[in-house]
Amino acid sequence: MKLLEGRTALITGVANRWSIATAVARAMHDHGARLAFVYQGERVRDEVQKLAAELGGAPSFECDVASDAALAALAQQLRAAFGRLDAVVHSIAYANKEDLGGKVYQTSRGGFNTSLDVSAYSLIALVQHLETLLNDGASVMALTYLGATAIVPNYNLMGIAKAALEAAVRYLAYDLGERGIRVNAISAGPIKTASARQVAGFSKMLDKVKNAAPLRRNVTAEDVGATAVYLASDLAAAITADVHFVDAGYHAMGMYPDPADAL
Ligand SMILES: NC(=O)c1ccc[n+]([C@@H]2O[C@H](COP(=O)([O-])OP(=O)(O)OC[C@H]3O[C@@H](n4cnc5c(N)ncnc54)[C@H](O)[C@@H]3O)[C@@H](O)[C@H]2O)c1
Repeated sequence: MKLLEGRTALITGVANRWSIATAVARAMHDHGARLAFVYQGERVRDEVQKLAAELGGAPSFECDVASDAALAALAQQLRAAFGRLDAVVHSIAYANKEDLGGKVYQTSRGGFNTSLDVSAYSLIALVQHLETLLNDGASVMALTYLGATAIVPNYNLMGIAKAALEAAVRYLAYDLGERGIRVNAISAGPIKTASARQVAGFSKMLDKVKNAAPLRRNVTAEDVGATAVYLASDLAAAITADVHFVDAGYHAMGMYPDPADAL
């Protein structure tokens, strides 16, 4: 059964084939959605255009979400060349590498502002500029991580940005709820992507999750894609303001097995 037949979706955050947004786009396309892509800049343009061509010849638009002018232009271009939106996928984050390790108290003001701007404010800004393009009942979703609410060594500044992002999800859900528009976050377990590799000791995180999670495995970008389809569909019509974990259950652990006891 195709869950998104006749729906449109705007996908942000594709950088390459490992990006979580790539798997989300494929899953939504498989479920019948008509897609449009937003990409950060020239550096990723070819990859995005290649994927867009593969997924039904979807249009793609350049937009650095740190620029209000670029967001305003995006809204205009979408209105003229694509039309209204039933789903928006925010899959964007950035922090300077030096802020994804070491001590949080060494974070610079500039590094903090950039990371919070690109990783959290950008969701508010996207909604601000695209609100009039959203159909009633649309679904907005953002990618987050457990480090928003619990200490994950080295995730550091990005955990602070994700905490702001998750709070924004709740307040936006309240603002848009009167139009039946839902806003949720998907909290994914660690997945090896270009962004994830910036976090110090990332590969060890994969091993720890695999050993300790109830499902004894890591998650894939395809696991996230399937959940994104569900959140965009009518099956999730009453779900909003939620942080939905796709992490093989790792977030629910209160004590971790000794490595010697691991499966
Ligand atoms: N990989 C993981 O382990 C993991 C786990 C949980 C949540 N997430 C989140 O998933 C989302 C996608 O990350 P990913 O892991 O697929 O990595 P990725 O590097 O493939 O994607 C990050 C994307 O953000 C885009 N981006 C950064 N700055 C931007 C800007 N100014 N304007 C427009 N786009 C910009 C990049 O172009 C890139 O496409 C992020 O929010 C990330 O925090 C990732």
